[in-house]
Amino acid sequence: MSEVTILKIGGSVLTDKREEGKLNQDRITKIAKEIASSDVQNLILIHGAGSFGHPIAKKFGLDASGKQNYAGAALTHEMVKELNKIIVKELVEDGVAAMPVHPMSCAISSKGRLKEIMTAQIELMTDNDVVPVIHGDVVMDLEWGTSILSGDQIVLHLAQRLKAKRVGVGTDVDGVIDGEGRIIASITPKTFSNIKPLLTTPKSVDVTGEMSGKVSELVRLAKAGIQSYVFNASKKGNITAFLRGNIDFGTVIRSD
Ligand code: IPE
Repeated sequence: MSEVTILKIGGSVLTDKREEGKLNQDRITKIAKEIASSDVQNLILIHGAGSFGHPIAKKFGLDASGKQNYAGAALTHEMVKELNKIIVKELVEDGVAAMPVHPMSCAISSKGRLKEIMTAQIELMTDNDVVPVIHGDVVMDLEWGTSILSGDQIVLHLAQRLKAKRVGVGTDVDGVIDGEGRIIASITPKTFSNIKPLLTTPKSVDVTGEMSGKVSELVRLAKAGIQSYVFNASKKGNITAFLRGNIDFGTVIRSD
């Protein structure tokens, strides 16, 4: 198995989070082109749900552990699959052999934490120059019935399991921003406890904890010895720079 690069692109980049089910088509087109022209090998792409997931998950109460709304979970899954289909199609049209991977069909959580995701097919894909395109989803949960699985949790799990050589999380801001609007250049598990309270509160409906939730997952990853970057995926050229290993912007989350 060759070393993989994992790139997660947040739903805030790919959709308009202010309106349910609204795409940011222009961004999707640009990002697909950047990925296609980067020629990176062994890439795993993960994307968030944005307005195709958070509002509907909230509406059906899927962000809580109480009585489950399975029909609502099914509708939520359908909606994130729709976004996934659009992204995969765009990549395929640009010449990338992209294949959808839906966590509902291959992952299980327990109390909202990912326990297991089947990786045999993902590894076969990357070994054969196919780009798996995985997404934040609603999944079956051993304790709660269903729960929301963020793309960031998938990053954490796959990066450890497949020993990723490069991990990046693209958002629509320039990195992790402190209370005064400055980019925090680097975060370690030690500094995170002081930084956590400074992270800005969500401006839109988000059932997976926005920046603070995201960085928490990446700090866990740093503790396992794998560093990662949070950067602005909306800015032209940033994805290419990350994929080619030329990233000198955003926030690095490292072990010490
Ligand atoms: C959320 O996934 C999944 C659902 C709400 C169904 P993410 O947490 O990865 O999505 P973004 O990146 O915040 O939009």
